[in-house]
Amino acid sequence: MSQQPTAKYRDDYRAPDFTITDINLEFDLDPNKTLVTAVSQIKRLNERATDLVLDGDDLTLVRLDINGDTWTAYSEEAGKLIIRDVPAAFTLTIQTQLDPENNSALEGLYISGGAYCTQCEAEGFRRITYYLDRPDVLARFTTKVIANKATYPYLLSNGNKMAAGDLDDGRHWVEWHDPHAKPSYLFALVGGDFDVLRDTFETRSGRNVALEIFVDKGNLDRADHAMVSLKNAMKWDEERFDLEYDLDIYMIVAVDFFNMGAMENKGLNIFNSKYVLANAETATDTDYLGIEAVIGHEYFHNWTGNRVTCRDWFQLSLKEGLTVFRDQEFSSDLGSRSVNRISNARIVRGPQFAEDASPMSHPIRPEKVIEMNNFYTLTVYEKGSEVIRMMHTILGESAFQKGMKLYFERHDGTASTCDDFVQAMEEASGIDLTQFRLWYSQSGTPVLTVSSTYDAATKQLALHVTQHTPATADQQEKQPLYIPLDIEMYRQDGSVIELQRHGESVSNVLAVTQAEQTYLFDHVDEQPVLSLLREFSAPVKLEYDYQDDELAFLLQHARNDFARWDAGQSLLAKHIKANVARVQDDQPIDVPLSVVDAFRGVLLSDNTDPALIAEVLNLPSETEVAGWFETVDVDAIHQVMAAFKQQFADHMVDELAAVYRQYAQTDYQITHKAMGERALRNACLSYLAHTENGNGYVEQHYQEAHNMTDTMAALSAANSAQLPCREPLMKGFSDQWQHDGLVMDKWFMLQGANPADNALEQVKAQMSHPAFTLKNPNRIRSLIGAFCNRNPARFHAKDGAGYRFLKEILVTLNQSNPQVASRLIDPLLKLAYYDSARQQQMRNVLQELADMDNLANDLYEKVEKTLEQ
Ligand code: TRP
Ligand code: ZN
Repeated sequence: MSQQPTAKYRDDYRAPDFTITDINLEFDLDPNKTLVTAVSQIKRLNERATDLVLDGDDLTLVRLDINGDTWTAYSEEAGKLIIRDVPAAFTLTIQTQLDPENNSALEGLYISGGAYCTQCEAEGFRRITYYLDRPDVLARFTTKVIANKATYPYLLSNGNKMAAGDLDDGRHWVEWHDPHAKPSYLFALVGGDFDVLRDTFETRSGRNVALEIFVDKGNLDRADHAMVSLKNAMKWDEERFDLEYDLDIYMIVAVDFFNMGAMENKGLNIFNSKYVLANAETATDTDYLGIEAVIGHEYFHNWTGNRVTCRDWFQLSLKEGLTVFRDQEFSSDLGSRSVNRISNARIVRGPQFAEDASPMSHPIRPEKVIEMNNFYTLTVYEKGSEVIRMMHTILGESAFQKGMKLYFERHDGTASTCDDFVQAMEEASGIDLTQFRLWYSQSGTPVLTVSSTYDAATKQLALHVTQHTPATADQQEKQPLYIPLDIEMYRQDGSVIELQRHGESVSNVLAVTQAEQTYLFDHVDEQPVLSLLREFSAPVKLEYDYQDDELAFLLQHARNDFARWDAGQSLLAKHIKANVARVQDDQPIDVPLSVVDAFRGVLLSDNTDPALIAEVLNLPSETEVAGWFETVDVDAIHQVMAAFKQQFADHMVDELAAVYRQYAQTDYQITHKAMGERALRNACLSYLAHTENGNGYVEQHYQEAHNMTDTMAALSAANSAQLPCREPLMKGFSDQWQHDGLVMDKWFMLQGANPADNALEQVKAQMSHPAFTLKNPNRIRSLIGAFCNRNPARFHAKDGAGYRFLKEILVTLNQSNPQVASRLIDPLLKLAYYDSARQQQMRNVLQELADMDNLANDLYEKVEKTLEQ
């Protein structure tokens, strides 16, 4: 290790010594010598400060003036430019030179597919100019962009276009002004040639907003869904949150090279093309829903993130947790609430719980950070959203919206904290959230253990609840949290028993606040079946000793779709765990017929939403199952899951075939109803692939598919069941689509998840596929990410070959794109959950990384934390 990176602590926050009120930027774009001139108005805030300390990364300083004169009293050191003895208010001119063409980290100014673009969150603006690159410095930006007119006809930045003109040498310029003061992380610039989809939106107050979506030439026929989603988002935010857009133009640019999903730059969102481009031939239903969610997410940031931003990066969940909550509500209001809730709960219970039990465990508001990019996590985003959702559950929609109003009244135009948000919710509702605030400072997943006793004589039910949060890597001591526990009771005939105590009805949402509590209910006329943690009302693990017949009952009769699905999952979990133990004891796998029958009942129920049936049939992934164990036996889990699939297929073949035929579709529609029916039909196919006629079903499905959802369902079934048609179909697909990286990502993902014994060899071979490149984060995530995360039996091969393969990739990416490297390493951080032989293999590759002399902060932070354990 060459030099120890330094950590930052939340407690060390200090207001800035100086601020910047206005900045004039000029970009003279050139692939290797872009000249950036930044003229900033600087004001001293702290009287005792004499030196202005600016952030800068990887910059060549060309000129430094104060009030128009050269200034020599400065020095450069470790990411900082220290300008000494500055006046109280002055104009600072800084010129820097950049090399966007060789910026492979995709942070700062870089080139994607021939177009210039930027990514500044979290700390990328310092790769453009020396600046106070922190979110609590808010400035008005004016940006002039200069480039060759023929090659780069579109020159874009934040805000409104103010002026434009031609220069004599074939170049032109455009000047933009953003009237809303903003932190540097929201700055954006784009220069390139595009096809543009244009539309307008009339806001509720009657203003007309120009909408423009910029895509690579030739992709115009793939931008419609993004535009529809944007208009839906604008309308929804007016109706549900009373929030209107605040500029005259809203632009979205789709780029192929992007580290994350998308970025909410003021008035100029930049998107990973994965979350913009879609048509029936190229995109699956999942892609369509992803686009709707991400377009919504970035749009909603305009208020929750941009108008009210974060004081410091420890407060990231202030904007991300809240904005994820808002995009989830958007998707739920437009589509199926229960299907959305199911997929959100799956993510939190699976990968988020795993992250919270790893060396990277942190509260939704972290305390200590080395590399900020490492904290755009499932915890900050998804658990953060669950924390907002719990407040929504506790307050109710109307008090919650009052809280939002107060929050904007107080904090619009400022950089705020998570505590400011909770305070507004507390004051607007009159509900004491003192204990609730612990969700912001305590990491780890609470375990709720529930038991019940029914007294037939007194007709009373006692519900005994204990909560316990196990210690995490970052925090030993845990306190009891405020946990909203949503419950319901059913009679054997399926009717609901109203919750009552002392003759009064009681809310379904119990406030669990102590380590141990007992709740009594009266007039419970028979021994009830309990539905617990309905709607996943808190991000906790629930332990309750359910009998199989109770779960089968809830799967059939619960009146909420989420509760039905959840009962099915619990039933599966119980028997999957038992069978893993049997395999470890050399006992045969046993999937009880009663379990199959419970699922058959759902498959055949004709008053159930097909989308829900599809979710119920969707078995947990091997990675999700791994999360249920203290020590993961990848091979046993692999065997057990294969057996469940096979047994369900064998025992339900006729019913699966009938439902498969029933939902044959003639035309293709992108409605939620049609999507749900496709999902069910394709879920049936995934089982039928494992039956005698599997190859025939899948081949025919592929040939008859007239949309990407059905095409991928066939390929995926062929892949999972390792059918003879797998080879020719995969080949045909690749021949057809190899020119299109986004479409090929789906194919690479299947190669990564290939259950074949020699999957690693095949993955390595696909790295020389013409469509593959380690320069594109989407390709990396598809092929390599799928291998490491969705193919546990192969990635965790006993000989350690999977780990060594990942290590080699990480060594390359550590240099070229540390942000992507750092996301890819995550499965190695969970080494404590594997047997000692595998642990040692994982430790070895982590140690080899730690021994590198140029390890980026991103990987350093994770590797060190893991090796420390
Ligand atoms: N703020 C972005 C969002 O909507 C996240 C993001 C996009 C990001 N690009 C990034 C974060 C690059 C870190 C680095 O969620
Ligand atoms: Zn976001």
